[in-house]
Amino acid sequence: MRKQIVAGNWKMNNDLSQTEALITDLKAQEKTTNAEVMVAPTAVNLSQACNSVKGSNIEVIAQNMHFAENGAYTGEISADMLKSIGVNTVILGHSERREYFNETDEMLAKKVDAALAKGMRVIFCFGEELADRKAGNEETVVESQIKNALFHLEAAAFQNIVLAYEPVWAIGTGETASPEQAQDMHAFIRKTLADTYGTEVADNMSILYGGSVKPANAEEIFSKPDVDGGLIGGASLKAEDFFAIVNAF
Ligand code: 13P
Repeated sequence: MRKQIVAGNWKMNNDLSQTEALITDLKAQEKTTNAEVMVAPTAVNLSQACNSVKGSNIEVIAQNMHFAENGAYTGEISADMLKSIGVNTVILGHSERREYFNETDEMLAKKVDAALAKGMRVIFCFGEELADRKAGNEETVVESQIKNALFHLEAAAFQNIVLAYEPVWAIGTGETASPEQAQDMHAFIRKTLADTYGTEVADNMSILYGGSVKPANAEEIFSKPDVDGGLIGGASLKAEDFFAIVNAF
């Protein structure tokens, strides 16, 4: 079923005490909502965060994982490790992983397969760079990112995938895609899914927008018919702002 989701990607922010303080604040701000609410602390604090969110409806999710089951991959984290501490959802394909850690579509396809094989849910990120948009290539870029990493999957696998369109030029820049730009791209993504997998898969897919979402612009972005929520960076680091965004639905 198509769900409304707001997920906070904390990136490389918040040490252990800051993580606990922010979760305490989030629990105090939490109100009843139809949206699923998730936060992605840094890997070392996931276990503690899973304990700290108890008693709330906030889900703790991971920012990344490796595709191998286990073995000689110094510094990496497997799906089983995440699951063993109660993390069942993972963000994959964030543009910062693609840019700074050379994650390719091919590698991401393997990560998606590994997560799904372990019964995890994937928030799969993609989005064009500024040069792509200036050249009018944004749809071509997005289509290839989605197809290369996901279109080897069976239709049923999409039940455990959430898509997150994050135009790189809007991440951390204060420059948001206009609600119309977000809607146009989300409609294109849904059509791309429908063309290969049919309307049922497409209509049930949650497609989140990410890139400088804040309390002031969330309501207008979320009001668009093909925008099912947001992946929030900077504004997710303050409980009040994050829940103002959640409550924008
Ligand atoms: P900002 O909300 O800080 O632009 O970051 C968006 C993002 O990258 C979420 O994954």
